[in-house]
Amino acid sequence: MLEPCFTVQPWLNRPRPLEGTGKGASRVPFPATSYMGRTLSRLEPALLITLSPLADADPNAVEALLDAAFGADRRGRTAYKLREGMKVLPELSLAAWEEDRLVGALQCWPIALHSDAGDTDLILVGPVAVDPERQQQGIGRAMMREMLTHTDDRESLVLIGDPEYYGRHFGFIADQTANWELPGPFERRRLLARTGGRDLPYRGMLGPRRG
Ligand SMILES: CC(C)(COP(=O)(O)OP(=O)(O)OC[C@H]1O[C@@H](n2cnc3c(N)ncnc32)[C@H](O)[C@@H]1OP(=O)(O)O)[C@@H](O)C(=O)NCCC(=O)NCCS
Repeated sequence: MLEPCFTVQPWLNRPRPLEGTGKGASRVPFPATSYMGRTLSRLEPALLITLSPLADADPNAVEALLDAAFGADRRGRTAYKLREGMKVLPELSLAAWEEDRLVGALQCWPIALHSDAGDTDLILVGPVAVDPERQQQGIGRAMMREMLTHTDDRESLVLIGDPEYYGRHFGFIADQTANWELPGPFERRRLLARTGGRDLPYRGMLGPRRG
């Protein structure tokens, strides 16, 4: 198996998206030089993965990737109800490419916790999906890490996912979500938040932002 090697499109390092940047237009030229802090030699064989804005990807290809990762029945999941009617956050959503093949996608959405005290804006992370043929090679981690570098001054993050993955690698925990309600079935242990030290309301109903 080739060792993955990641590059990040310069676009993603800007605070806001550039308009009209087509896929490939501003790719970082090969060789990409490091993976997990280790410098790779030019001669070392590597699986070159490029991260770019999700807007570069054909929406149909994204849907096919999500079907492959989660199954075609995924649309009925509670996570989809949480962001019904919302538009994906383009500055926090990204794609992973192996050459021109889409091998990963991460989407973020504006949502809110609605409580008696008012609405608390949050960001829903997910779906995070990696092509089944390319899973367990660091692509999920690379997309999550890149997304997290852009969230420092943003709202707290929420997701429904495996704590063994999102807790261990990215610090998502269920401490503050224990009494939240969702508009559909979910496993309590998989409702996770990453607040950056902020306190979130004890109770509330999670759902799309209003108005
Ligand atoms: C979950 C997913 C996004 C992870 O991305 P990935 O590129 O395959 O995983 P990475 O290479 O970044 O991370 C691999 C590490 O995370 C662990 N890991 C991956 N998925 C995991 C999961 N669902 N639960 C626990 N640990 C997991 C692996 O064991 C591995 O650990 P190691 O580094 O100690 O060996 C990807 O596998 C995927 O799309 N899966 C299908 C959708 C799914 O099942 N999602 C469930 C979580 S919401």
